[in-house]
Amino acid sequence: MKVRKYMAKDFSCLYEIEKSSFSDCWSSEGMKDELSQSYANYFVAEEDNKIIGFGGFYFFIDESEIVRIAVHKDNRGRGCGRAILIAMVDEAKSLGAKNIFLEVRESNVVARKLYESMGFISYNIREKYYEGIEDAVLYRRKL
Ligand SMILES: CC(C)(COP(=O)(O)OP(=O)(O)OC[C@H]1O[C@@H](n2cnc3c(N)ncnc32)[C@H](O)[C@@H]1OP(=O)(O)O)[C@@H](O)C(=O)NCCC(=O)NCCS
Repeated sequence: MKVRKYMAKDFSCLYEIEKSSFSDCWSSEGMKDELSQSYANYFVAEEDNKIIGFGGFYFFIDESEIVRIAVHKDNRGRGCGRAILIAMVDEAKSLGAKNIFLEVRESNVVARKLYESMGFISYNIREKYYEGIEDAVLYRRKL
């Protein structure tokens, strides 16, 4: 498995993973628009010429924020999410970001364990942020 920067030819595979991973997934047009933004930095994980995961972060001036990370259901628990996160953290650092931020559903134990194992520290809660019901936990890692 290798992690590399997103290319336009990856779109349909990436979008399948998006749709099957998030209840509040982007529309296809919204996702295309997202991927074309100059501040958006997207990576894919590829194995045997197949896209099995992706992640993206925004970079503005000297800060960065992870907006997406997802691994295809059949490939979870094999180190792919961690590899994508490492690639994003390394890229944010090399672009000159001082911090990298993200937010996650309180109930998303798997993602939270991954972030915490990578040095992300929770610094705040956004109450009832998701569907007016579930809190968001805000994380930051200094770079
Ligand atoms: C979160 C996600 C990207 C993790 O990807 P992954 O490839 O399964 O994760 P990895 O195999 O790299 O595991 C990394 C760490 O996550 C945690 N983890 C992974 N699977 C876990 C499980 N079933 N239970 C608890 N923790 C788990 C562990 O801390 C693990 O580290 P370890 O292997 O050293 O113990 C993946 O589960 C996913 O796509 N989820 C749906 C989308 C999502 O919720 N994205 C995050 C939104 S903020």
